[in-house]
Amino acid sequence: MTRTVKIAPSILSADFADFGREIAAIEAQGADWVHVDVMDGHFVPNLTFGPPLVKAIRKHVRTVMDVHLMIAPVDPYIDAFAEAGADFITAHLEAGPHTHRTLQAIRGAGCKAGLALNPGTPVEAAAPLLDLCDLVCVMTVNPGFGGQKFIRSQIAQIARLREMIGDRPIEIEIDGGVDPETAPLVKQAGADVLVAGSAVFRGGSVDDPATYGRNIKAIREAALGVYA
Ligand code: DX5
Ligand code: ZN
Repeated sequence: MTRTVKIAPSILSADFADFGREIAAIEAQGADWVHVDVMDGHFVPNLTFGPPLVKAIRKHVRTVMDVHLMIAPVDPYIDAFAEAGADFITAHLEAGPHTHRTLQAIRGAGCKAGLALNPGTPVEAAAPLLDLCDLVCVMTVNPGFGGQKFIRSQIAQIARLREMIGDRPIEIEIDGGVDPETAPLVKQAGADVLVAGSAVFRGGSVDDPATYGRNIKAIREAALGVYA
């Protein structure tokens, strides 16, 4: 197990009317990436925002903009999210029949390609696609909402994915219900990037960014087994 982990706060839990300052606050407080959840009210039962908003917040992101598309179809929107400035574009395996083509299109648009898997999908389904992936996102909740309960049975899936990936340069990202209690479990199983919405933003605000910092530190230290 490596002694590093990246923390990617999900702005789904931020103040939607103040994304610029929220992003500046989490980055100043130790966020490694900024995780941006795009939902279409069709693939998932919730709606967030589209490429114009992603483009508008891009100029506030100094780290890595990690765009998680919970939309179907995906392919017609890849160029728009690439032009909006996404570093990573992650699409769901379950979003359509042509995920291989989708991953090719994401790389073709100049972005790093991510593949997300719902909790009901066996990680083995990703095997034929791994060489097209820069990241695999294992969902530890059913996508659609922040603040849901972590699905423990996904830990075994993360460990299987870690074995499948071996030493290929592919990030394993975990999304959903990550907090200081669950972070060590997923890190131990092989996670590289931890997405966290409610566990980062809870209790804080742009006027109290130090709370974000404490929350990020608590997740990171728990993941790395530092109990200071
Ligand atoms: C869920 C989203 C997540 C979500 C995580 O559909 O993809 O990124 O914001 O939120 P928490 O950390 O609160 O489970
Ligand atoms: Zn997400």
